Amino acid sequence: MAVIFKVRGTRDLLPPETDLWNHVERTARAVFGRYGFGEIRTPIFEDTQLFARGVGEETDIVSKEMYTWEDRARAESERAQSLTLRPENTAGVVRAYIEHKMNETGMLQKLFYIGPQFRRERPQRGRYRQFWQIGAEILGPVWSGAESPLRDAELLEMLATLLNELGVRGWRLELNSIGSATDRPRFIAALREALAPIKDRLSEDNRRRAETNPLRVLDSKAPEDQRLIETLPKIADFLDEESTEHFKQVLAALDACGVRYHVNPRLVRGLDYYTRTTFEFTAPDGSGLGAQNALLGGGRYDGLSEILGGPKAPGIGFAIGEDRLILTLQAQAERDGAATERRLDAFVAPMGLAQNADALALAKELRAAGLSVELGDGMFRLRKSFETADKLAHRMVIVGEDEVKSGIFTVKYFAAGEQSKVPRAELPNALRSLVASGVAGG
Ligand code: HAM
Repeated sequence: MAVIFKVRGTRDLLPPETDLWNHVERTARAVFGRYGFGEIRTPIFEDTQLFARGVGEETDIVSKEMYTWEDRARAESERAQSLTLRPENTAGVVRAYIEHKMNETGMLQKLFYIGPQFRRERPQRGRYRQFWQIGAEILGPVWSGAESPLRDAELLEMLATLLNELGVRGWRLELNSIGSATDRPRFIAALREALAPIKDRLSEDNRRRAETNPLRVLDSKAPEDQRLIETLPKIADFLDEESTEHFKQVLAALDACGVRYHVNPRLVRGLDYYTRTTFEFTAPDGSGLGAQNALLGGGRYDGLSEILGGPKAPGIGFAIGEDRLILTLQAQAERDGAATERRLDAFVAPMGLAQNADALALAKELRAAGLSVELGDGMFRLRKSFETADKLAHRMVIVGEDEVKSGIFTVKYFAAGEQSKVPRAELPNALRSLVASGVAGG
């Protein structure tokens, strides 16, 4: 029979790599908790209209990357409906905010999520068709302070803290203000005007964007476009006073808490809902991500709730590409020569089939004491038990007939190459690993 393989652009995450994923997620949850965020879980598929309206018809995501299907009605009472696997989670969170009338609490909502997203992109390292995001959103009615520049700075400071706690080195924060919903149309009109005479000299992709989504021309990476882009109008010159002041206050608050940033006037981001502050954190060169070096991206979306039929609820959020974050940490660990393998505390080795049940009982006891334990089998020869134990664990406990009778066990310490006799009651302490087992052990 032919073997069935995973679908292009999807990944299987296997142990021990999944230890690192769990470590990253645990750290994120701990940091989010300290900043007052609660977890939200929204469905993986939604009404297609949510993304068409929320993310924007003209964006790459909606125009070519969504997994959309016509979901048939199963009963007279149902109607067929166009559904889409979520390409991102912000639209779903704002939909839930509206649907559950969270604005009626009058409070600021601080929500985080961890989960898979789906985009039909051209797969390469750091870019997948199913990928994971760790994201958070702050939103609420105007009187809850959701629009305040303090929130932008708090969110960015939290991200800096999270990346530092995870040990990501050399990250870079780039940010920009793309203005309010009224500034943007004026800027786009000016861009269109400036692009019209030079459009034909742009790369093919950008020629199309010049028509459909001129803002996107600005963050083109194509080398042949760079000189022309330099000549285009700058968004900073089109911001109204309020947006300019808002951005100034964000920068001042970042200065006050010592978060380093680079203002990048060309950072526009690829989703239509953004207003004012937009940002990206990039990984340093050498993290093996190549062109996919955006570890995370986000920004304000002060009009999104209204676009989705809800009340006024300004907000700001981000999403980390978890796959990229993990690749960066792995490349770093490899450069450092850091051990990422995880070893268990102990391997319990019965010397013969007659000791299997006793060994299981001992393993149960040690696991109950909080140790990580693997169990051998009395059918193994002694040499095989040794070799297996040395691969998996820091120590091995030998369970022979004499040991079971006397209650005194031989423990072998692999790193030191020593062994000693330990009474049963003292085993948990003797076997507990004193050294943490690397990043992957978490
Ligand atoms: P985004 O920039 O489209 O923003 O995605 C955020 C991050 O997800 C990217 O910086 C990248 O690390 C990761 N990412 C995106 N596409 C892929 C892919 N195909 N494979 C691997 N990683 C990928 C958003 O999704 C917004 N919802 C962020 C946000 C939240 N804005 C406000 N609130």
